[in-house]
Amino acid sequence: MKKLLLASSLVTLLFLVASGLSENVFVSWKGYQKEYSLLLAGRAKDPERKREARNVPIELHQVVVPDLAVFDRCVTCHRGMDNPLMAGAPNPFRPHPGDILNVHPTERFGCTICHRGQGAAVNFREAKAVDAYWDYPLLPRELLESSCGICHDPKAMAKTGAPVLAEGARLFEEKGCHGCHRLGGLGGSLGAALDSAGLRTRHQLTMANLPGEKTTFRWLDLHFKDPQGIVAGSLMKPDYPTDEEARALTVFMLSLQADRELPDRAVARDRHRLLSVGHDQGERDGRTLYDRLCRVCHGEGTLGIFDKHLGKFVPAIRNPAFLASVDRRFLRANILAGRPGTLMAGFEGGLTGPDLERLLDFLAGGAALPERRAQAAAKRPAGDARRGAAMFARQCAGCHDPGEKGQVAPTLSSRAFQENAGDAMILATIAGGRPGTAMVAFSGPGGAGLSDAELSDLLAHIRSLATRRK
Ligand code: HEC
Ligand code: HEC
Ligand code: HEC
Ligand code: HEC
Ligand code: HEC
Ligand code: HEC
Repeated sequence: MKKLLLASSLVTLLFLVASGLSENVFVSWKGYQKEYSLLLAGRAKDPERKREARNVPIELHQVVVPDLAVFDRCVTCHRGMDNPLMAGAPNPFRPHPGDILNVHPTERFGCTICHRGQGAAVNFREAKAVDAYWDYPLLPRELLESSCGICHDPKAMAKTGAPVLAEGARLFEEKGCHGCHRLGGLGGSLGAALDSAGLRTRHQLTMANLPGEKTTFRWLDLHFKDPQGIVAGSLMKPDYPTDEEARALTVFMLSLQADRELPDRAVARDRHRLLSVGHDQGERDGRTLYDRLCRVCHGEGTLGIFDKHLGKFVPAIRNPAFLASVDRRFLRANILAGRPGTLMAGFEGGLTGPDLERLLDFLAGGAALPERRAQAAAKRPAGDARRGAAMFARQCAGCHDPGEKGQVAPTLSSRAFQENAGDAMILATIAGGRPGTAMVAFSGPGGAGLSDAELSDLLAHIRSLATRRK
């Protein structure tokens, strides 16, 4: 027993000594610094310099930039960052690629502001920080351009070092992401606002369905390619981007860090300009707004659409028959409030007044769109809602019942519809239909021949839906 005790104490002691040595004496950074001075001595031209290189003290180096919350010891190993003599040496000894550190000197910017990773770490595995305890692991090289967008205007970077980032910003607009996501005050609300999408950590994203390494950048990339595969039941329309497009969009997403506080001195001029003028740079006509905000769902707006992938219906909002029956007030209310429970989420807060008016002018396509359409005052008998309900169940519910799977027509109970559609609009829509969509005419020439009284009954039933809405 005594011998056993002795042996085990010795083993424990040995472990203690070993861990003490590995933490303090055999640390990798010391090895790298020794290797660095040997390399440097070998490359130095004159003997004076050679001696200097050999006698560089082995010590921790760090860059502290308080206003950027930077505390980086990367330079403890990456000693040759600004030494042209080290060209061609392996990492961590070689100089920084390009001349980016000339305009962003290490003492003012550090390293992690661009590279992410754990600045205080003194071994490379911890600096990379691809584990559960660090929110922002070292970025892969092909995504580094995302960091430029923290301090620069992405769109201004096409020719100044970040073409992929600039492309991502362009794709964001071209692909209609604004239709469902607010960014810089513009956009819809079906998906989350993305102003700080780049600060999301892996704990804030649903990682369960992501195969392989669980990083935010892999999540973004695969989510663009297959939203429903990553987030079950997602209402994000898959856009089937190419690998390059998905990468550019990922870079752009990672660059969005509006919540990050930066001192004025760190923000580049182009971004100062962007922040004072706004993301749109002032150029937003009705067509542009429509393309960025509405097209992703409504298409050209002239035909009703049934999205097979999502199993959702989208109406034709540039249909002449539709525009002839509604007024500006109706459109404005429906666009701002949206129609809860459908893909049409409201644009309140994501569309400024002047933008909205320009958009309405574009929808009207040059035709006069009155603020309020006169509601025909013709005397008509009050309808009977119960008779209307029976008729609705027979003739209309197949398309309009919100409970039906694969619903193919608008929900008539939504508040924005009920409060802003006048009786005349509803009657005209039922009687005349909306040519070019599934909504056929139910009266008049070529219609199904409903009488005025039957129309009134239907109207009474439709109005009764308002009180039953959720
Ligand atoms: C303990 C020494 C050490 C520290 C501290 C360190 N690095 Fe490195 N770094 C290395 C070594 C060694 C390599 C080469 C690794 C390889 O080739 O596998 C490297 C490679 C890199 C690379 C090339 C890409 C890669 O993944 O191989 C980048 C970028 C980098 N480091 C950035 C940083 C940043 C940023 C920090 C600070 C957060 C940092 N390093 C801290 C030792 C270090
Ligand atoms: C202003 C942003 C910025 C700062 C600050 C910055 N880097 Fe970089 N770094 C980059 C970019 C961009 C690249 C990729 C260049 C390329 O692909 O040509 C890069 C490349 C590198 C590489 C080579 C990567 C590889 O795969 O071989 C290393 C190593 C590196 N940086 C380390 C550092 C260290 C250490 C610091 C701090 C002293 C630092 N960087 C500061 C932007 C920055
Ligand atoms: C922490 C903020 C910050 C980050 C991150 C950053 N920059 Fe800069 N950059 C600046 C500031 C500040 C200037 C100074 C010039 C200015 O105010 O426009 C500058 C200047 C430049 C310049 C010189 C052009 C000029 O207008 O003087 C280039 C090129 C540049 N940055 C490219 C990049 C690239 C590429 C990246 C990403 C790899 C990047 N920057 C990341 C803040 C940043
Ligand atoms: C039809 C509406 C729609 C469109 C168009 C759309 N998204 Fe989404 N997006 C959503 C919805 C809904 C979610 C939430 C469900 C999910 O994560 O899939 C989402 C989630 C996201 C997320 C994750 C947000 C987070 O932090 O949880 C990102 C990032 C994103 N979208 C970016 C984009 C980009 C970039 C585009 C353009 C290429 C785009 N989206 C187009 C509806 C949309
Ligand atoms: C074959 C499917 C179908 C049937 C049957 C049908 N509708 Fe429709 N209805 C639609 C579609 C599709 C629209 C939207 C058209 C568009 O603008 O794209 C619509 C639009 C409407 C609107 C305008 C809603 C809005 O949001 O602007 C009303 C009111 C309406 N229908 C009432 C009825 C009534 C009442 C009946 C039964 C008499 C009926 N519909 C039968 C498909 C149908
Ligand atoms: C995420 C997809 C989506 C986007 C983006 C979208 N819509 Fe819609 N919109 C819909 C759907 C779906 C409906 C039908 C809602 C229902 O079933 O009641 C609708 C309905 C409408 C209606 C009511 C139509 C009617 O028949 O009464 C108007 C007006 C409208 N959208 C305008 C717009 C405008 C303008 C934009 C751009 C600013 C826009 N929408 C963006 C999906 C979308």
